[in-house]
Amino acid sequence: MVRRAYISASSHWVPEKVLTNFDLEKLVDTTDEWIRTRTGIEERRILGAGKATSDMAAEAVKALCKQRGIDPKEIDVIVVATVTPDMFFPSTANLVQEKVGAKNAWSFDVAAACSGFLFGLNIGAQFVQAGTHNKVVVVGADKMTSITNYRDRNTCVLFGDAAGAVLLEPSEDDDIGLLDFMLHSDGSGAEYLMLKGGGSLNPASLETIANDWHFIYQDGKSVFKFAVTKMAEVAVNILERNNYSGKDIKMLIPHQANLRIIDGTVKRLGIDYDKVMININKYGNTTAATIPLALSEAYQQGKLDKGDLVLFATFGGGFTWGSGLVRWGLDNPVKK
Ligand code: COA
Repeated sequence: MVRRAYISASSHWVPEKVLTNFDLEKLVDTTDEWIRTRTGIEERRILGAGKATSDMAAEAVKALCKQRGIDPKEIDVIVVATVTPDMFFPSTANLVQEKVGAKNAWSFDVAAACSGFLFGLNIGAQFVQAGTHNKVVVVGADKMTSITNYRDRNTCVLFGDAAGAVLLEPSEDDDIGLLDFMLHSDGSGAEYLMLKGGGSLNPASLETIANDWHFIYQDGKSVFKFAVTKMAEVAVNILERNNYSGKDIKMLIPHQANLRIIDGTVKRLGIDYDKVMININKYGNTTAATIPLALSEAYQQGKLDKGDLVLFATFGGGFTWGSGLVRWGLDNPVKK
């Protein structure tokens, strides 16, 4: 029998402060109508100065432990997926470990942009499957506002701040848990979506600051074309590999970057919109946080029952993309 990992708790944390499309109208040449119709976003959350990705991640992990009724000292590993670490080093996961008091956990970060959570989830699942670890926390967290240029209307309307987390434990029921992953990278896409400055190639200098290289650079059209094809393809492929089709899934939880990209996947899967978890309207693109945030909301809103088939699909900078298939293992907290 396979020792399968399952999601034994699911939580999120978002900052209180809201930045609406109307607020953005005052900052750049844009309109609420353009943003809503081109992206599906109405507002996003902003963490503000003095707080960092690890603060949001720590709040999500505290909520996770509370939900599962465990002491943070019981956690064996913490994996944090992020492109906005508090610092280059130490890892954000280490800062979270300290903030939540997970004294017995070792911890590290994963960098795969918007696909980071699914990459981290696959890594975390393998610690559980190998039988070496019993409580693995996987977090997706990003303070995207820290790398967003509020003079660039092409990007500043898209992003927001959030954290989401799951706890992975060994499943007692072989049918329940993380069933399969399909993950991909294509480094030839690096040039279309990047943070050019501050790394070893272009260390911070007056020039990198003058060129806005410490902010997200995106060729939106190229990313869109890639995303709309690849996210749909990888969602269909994982279902086929497991002898399922769109009608078998209870819920699609896609990366929330643009409603029109989600549309593409929904059409390819041939599913109705009531099977799709969407919260991009409230949060925008929170990068590594979108999937765990949407999962946590779906779970807490009572949209998932034990035994439901859940499909994750993502794409992001790198390029990176992937899908994950889960047989949900928690009772519905609303029906309980
Ligand atoms: N408000 C008003 N106009 C805007 C605007 C804004 N916020 N942002 C861009 N525009 C303008 C452009 O300047 C362009 O004007 P032009 O034709 O005069 O040059 C026009 O709108 C159309 O731009 P275009 O880039 O073709 O728009 P689009 O329909 O492709 O939408 C994105 C732009 C960014 C929303 C879209 O390309 C996208 O979602 N890309 C993928 C982004 C993504 O998912 N990134 C994260 C990866 S994880």
